[in-house]
Amino acid sequence: MLSIRAVRVGFKGREAAYRLGTLCSFGSHVAYLSSRKITLGREKQTETPLRSPVWSCNEWDPLEEIIVGRVEGAHVPPFTVEVQARTMKRYWDFHIYRAGQPYPQAHLAKAAAEIETFCYILEQEGVTVRRPAIVDHSMEYTTPDFRSTGMYAAMPRDILLVIGDEIIEAPMAWRSRFFEYRAYRSLIKEYFKQGARWTTAPKPQMSDELYDKNYPDENDPNCHKITDQAKFVTTEFEPCFDAADFMRAGRDIFAQRSQVTNYSGIEWVKRHLGHKYNIHCLSFEDRNPMHIDTTLFTIAPGVVLSNPERPCHQIDLFKKAGWTVVHPPYPVIPDSHPLWSSSKWLSMNVLMLDTKRVICDVDEIPTVKMFEKLGIKPITLSIRHANSLGGGFHCWTTDIRRRGKLESYL
Ligand code: ARG
Repeated sequence: MLSIRAVRVGFKGREAAYRLGTLCSFGSHVAYLSSRKITLGREKQTETPLRSPVWSCNEWDPLEEIIVGRVEGAHVPPFTVEVQARTMKRYWDFHIYRAGQPYPQAHLAKAAAEIETFCYILEQEGVTVRRPAIVDHSMEYTTPDFRSTGMYAAMPRDILLVIGDEIIEAPMAWRSRFFEYRAYRSLIKEYFKQGARWTTAPKPQMSDELYDKNYPDENDPNCHKITDQAKFVTTEFEPCFDAADFMRAGRDIFAQRSQVTNYSGIEWVKRHLGHKYNIHCLSFEDRNPMHIDTTLFTIAPGVVLSNPERPCHQIDLFKKAGWTVVHPPYPVIPDSHPLWSSSKWLSMNVLMLDTKRVICDVDEIPTVKMFEKLGIKPITLSIRHANSLGGGFHCWTTDIRRRGKLESYL
């Protein structure tokens, strides 16, 4: 909250331009954060939550409240086998040299300013913005099975899976992300008090058995073969998943087996959610999958973005149901810009405010044009320095509340 106010005092440049263009286009928004009823018993007073402050069933219903991640305290994770498997060779030295250290400070400062602007814009669009706590991610921790330092609380989408009125804390698969949930606990407790359901998926041990320590890196000629055979750096020793490997479309949820989400992790989500939901396990032509939201993105009822470089093997599922499959244009971010933990496909990692407004990157002109053609108004800004930490607008956020019902779209 404090940080958002700080931005209000000193906005300039792109923000000022933004203000002139699109101020208050969401004037009718009404928030209902604390709808609680006090029931008076004979002697004592009890509080009965009537309605959950958490409610989100898809990626496009009108957005009312969101968590935006934090730059503060971000640290480079130790270069363990699971991190190495996902890191492009050109960034290995960066990771090896800086393991356990903060990301470059000047870069972080720019990223932090971008994220403050992002929060400001969301608020101007009528969205309530909440932030995780500032946590010391440099602290070393030891469990009976491993030792690590932490990473960040930058990507709430990776760790918090919101399904209806329930927040599920994902178990994660990187040792450096084992304790990441701590940054979100005060927010989650607040939502819980107000009526949200709250689940922590089984914590993995993250002992050596969870990882294939001989997993080939991207230069290994066998690498292609390995992902084609559906082999990943994580084993099936125990369930693990990141929340960002799930894409929601009401009663249908699309998941992928990735470097951080294993089949038993997907099975856990499936059994946990029960018959109300259909979990579809999809696969893609993707040598190194991690987080589905740069690969397949459901942007509206019946409309899905499908990464042209990572075709979906089950795309007929959508086509048969009458969905429009849109292939977004190739990203234009220059090679010179550091992306320490992701591909350039953050260009399709957008945030839908509703089916008519999307937050997307100001410099990704082909993507901006694509949305205009689809009749969706792009609200543009740049978070390029924040992108370097591994995520776009979708990764940097997690929905807390969207208006709408749980429906079937497939
Ligand atoms: N692994 C993806 C890629 O390299 C980036 C996914 C980012 N998404 C996220 N939720 N952190 O294209």
